[in-house]
Amino acid sequence: MMNSNKVNFEPIGRRITTPRGTTLLSAAQKAGIGLIAVCNGRGTCHQCIIRVVKGKTNSPTEVETQAFSNQMLADGIRLACQAVPLSDVTIEIPPESISTIQRLQVEGWQSIIPLNPAVKVIDVDIESSIRNEQRSDLTRLKDGLKTFHPDITIPMPVMNCLSPILHEYGWRVKVALHDNGTITGILRVDQQPFGLAFDIGTTKLAAYLVDLENGETVAKLGATNPQISYGEDVISRIAYANLGNSEKNKMQTVLIDALNRLVEQLCQIAGIHSEQIVDAVAVGNTAMHHFFANLPTRQLGEAPYVAAVRESLLLPAHSLGLMISPGALIYLPPNITGFVGADHIAADLASGIAGEGGNTLLVDVGTNTEISLKTRHGLLCCSCASGPAFEGAHIEAGMRAAPGAIERVFFNDGEWYYSTIDGQPPVGICGSGILDAVAEMRQAGIIDERGVLQTGDGRVVINRNGKAFLLVPADTEKGLAAIQVTRKDINEIQLAKAAIRAGIEILLKEAGITADEIQRFIVAGAFGSYLHLPSAIAIGMFPNIPIERFSQVGNAAGAGARMMLDSKDARQSAERLYRENKYIELTTRKDFQDIYMAAMPVSNQLQFL
Ligand code: FES
Repeated sequence: MMNSNKVNFEPIGRRITTPRGTTLLSAAQKAGIGLIAVCNGRGTCHQCIIRVVKGKTNSPTEVETQAFSNQMLADGIRLACQAVPLSDVTIEIPPESISTIQRLQVEGWQSIIPLNPAVKVIDVDIESSIRNEQRSDLTRLKDGLKTFHPDITIPMPVMNCLSPILHEYGWRVKVALHDNGTITGILRVDQQPFGLAFDIGTTKLAAYLVDLENGETVAKLGATNPQISYGEDVISRIAYANLGNSEKNKMQTVLIDALNRLVEQLCQIAGIHSEQIVDAVAVGNTAMHHFFANLPTRQLGEAPYVAAVRESLLLPAHSLGLMISPGALIYLPPNITGFVGADHIAADLASGIAGEGGNTLLVDVGTNTEISLKTRHGLLCCSCASGPAFEGAHIEAGMRAAPGAIERVFFNDGEWYYSTIDGQPPVGICGSGILDAVAEMRQAGIIDERGVLQTGDGRVVINRNGKAFLLVPADTEKGLAAIQVTRKDINEIQLAKAAIRAGIEILLKEAGITADEIQRFIVAGAFGSYLHLPSAIAIGMFPNIPIERFSQVGNAAGAGARMMLDSKDARQSAERLYRENKYIELTTRKDFQDIYMAAMPVSNQLQFL
């Protein structure tokens, strides 16, 4: 096969053999990878970014030397449509270059830590009962374990199945022993122990099954949070729960039912029994945490919006209704405040914000956006009400990231280009698409800094709500409606991005540094992973600092939850992050309104006091 090369795409793990001379973009397309290529390989959109990790490729083309700094080129950064393998190659596809659906399946980046789980599994060969020996099964099990922990506790559900299991398994079993002395499960000697990590988001649930013997994630799944039927955002769900006990309980049971369905599917994928799951970690914002643990939520919806519990919890999973090993305990890391929950602690942990690396800013973009800033003076955090516009809500043609959603918009040389998820005919526009559209409309002079649509461009039309930009004309043959960006849509994006930028600026001000002094700018969260960074900078959502300082890390909260399964040291780090995080309440600050208004223009040159 002299005339072909093997191309290995990571972290997707897809391999393909291609004829010599094939570009990496064509190879990716042939391999069924949804690499973003808005200009279809013309070299003008600069969005098909990949990194050559191993192997030889052609030298960077002129297009690439203009697009990237020397340092980026030296690091192997290329445009897939310009790069041609000259040997077998390994290619890394950054999350922002993969189309949304595939990107959501990619692991969130996480720091590598040594395996040291809170639950260890011990092979126990128990003395079988002998004639005239009256020690109970429980006593003999405890005696067999006394060298491992001085104070063994056996939860009632485990006690209930102890004798049958010991008799069935011939007195040789694996015991899952929590660091605090609780037996969380009893397994056959040939069964492996697993852990479960949940990221409970307001919109999405993510569940990960982790092999506790090697720390590997063996299966992961996502689902929509079914509480959405009772309210789109946290405040409306709290209002629903306030209606009475049955409504409050419903919010917990629909959530637990959905999580149990995910557990069942994960077990099917991995070919294991749910009793093999002997440890669990769950993270979520404070409201999701409270619904999950069935804690009071009323006070979260009323000023001053305090949490019922901020400290970490270790709860019996069965008491919450989770169908895993009968003795398993579920660890819930601490919440920082009523609006900054354990999911942000988990994101802090996964991003390694507290480690080396100079001034580091972490933005976890969502309906509520949480921001942390670490400087040598400490760790600050805040929460911004950025709203659901980036989920496609409150946008006239908006939709969630699903097939047919416009996810990228690009303007070049008088021409408009767009790409849709899965290459399907356009049916709406998702968060990353509307962000791009606003940035490109400003670049094309179709809107001014205030976001006002200018007359004179043939694509500016009048619809029932006033002026709008016609992004995609209607296609009557295919029955597709026109996709327009209205003045109100632009305003929604301005409000959302101004909330985020105001949060960033206030943390910078509090820490006494400027944006230029940020050395690492980490963007987390599902939407944060697929937004186009140059667009976010162009509209002033993020400060105008060199693009190399940014990284998009995917679902950092889910990654942090898995780290806490892999290691009890990570749980201690989470507790430390909780103690060290200084929360800044934005809305009570005198300067908030001025900074928020200063962040409103569609510009990368914003003026703050
Ligand atoms: S597809 Fe490579 S630059 Fe547009």
